[in-house]
Amino acid sequence: MAVATWEGFLFINLARDPEPFDKAWNPLMGRFSRFNLPNLKVYRTIEYDVKANWKLLFQNYSECYHCGPVHPALAKLTPPTSGENDLTEGPFTGGFMVINRGHESLTMSGNSCGVTVGELPDEDMNRVYYYAIFPNMLLSLHPDYVMFHTLWPKGTDRTQIFCSWLFHPATLRDPTFDPEDGVEFWDMTNRQDWHICEQSQLGVQSRAYVPGPYSKRESLSVQFDREVLRSLGR
Ligand SMILES: [Fe+2]
Repeated sequence: MAVATWEGFLFINLARDPEPFDKAWNPLMGRFSRFNLPNLKVYRTIEYDVKANWKLLFQNYSECYHCGPVHPALAKLTPPTSGENDLTEGPFTGGFMVINRGHESLTMSGNSCGVTVGELPDEDMNRVYYYAIFPNMLLSLHPDYVMFHTLWPKGTDRTQIFCSWLFHPATLRDPTFDPEDGVEFWDMTNRQDWHICEQSQLGVQSRAYVPGPYSKRESLSVQFDREVLRSLGR
């Protein structure tokens, strides 16, 4: 069994002849060093039991076409059409979205809920970065906290999800900060996503279901489909 560490996370490859980690993870090596991930502390972890296939959840994370109607609070802080994708091929995809002027982070208040997580340049101070890391990790980097999800399939129509919020230790020592401001924001947003994924699951498992075309704003979901097929040797 191959075990590797990356930015404080542990990865296990069960393949008989695993690809060397450094090679497989080349696109992500050093990419987020400025976010100081290994030194951040887990503040909260919430477990969710979602009645949807893990692929629907992964695809949902990979596009913001749904953000306007599904996440009014999120769309107010970061316009769904803002930002751009900077990893568009292969097993790791994502990019950033822009936090509107007058707001500092994705929190209920719109204000920061902690000190800056690492040595971030000015341009990162109004961005949120989102990366879908095949097959089961979602990494969301904000100026003042980092959130990650792991997806654990429990059946064709059920997924267990763990979502954790990471903060700089100085934030957790300082009672003037309120990390719950960020936790509450994403717990609300997560539940909105789980709900539409459960609705999608009901649709997809119907005998009447016929897949529709993707929009141009769902290119990373298309890439995910390709990656699933590639992983199945197709
Ligand atoms: Fe969403």
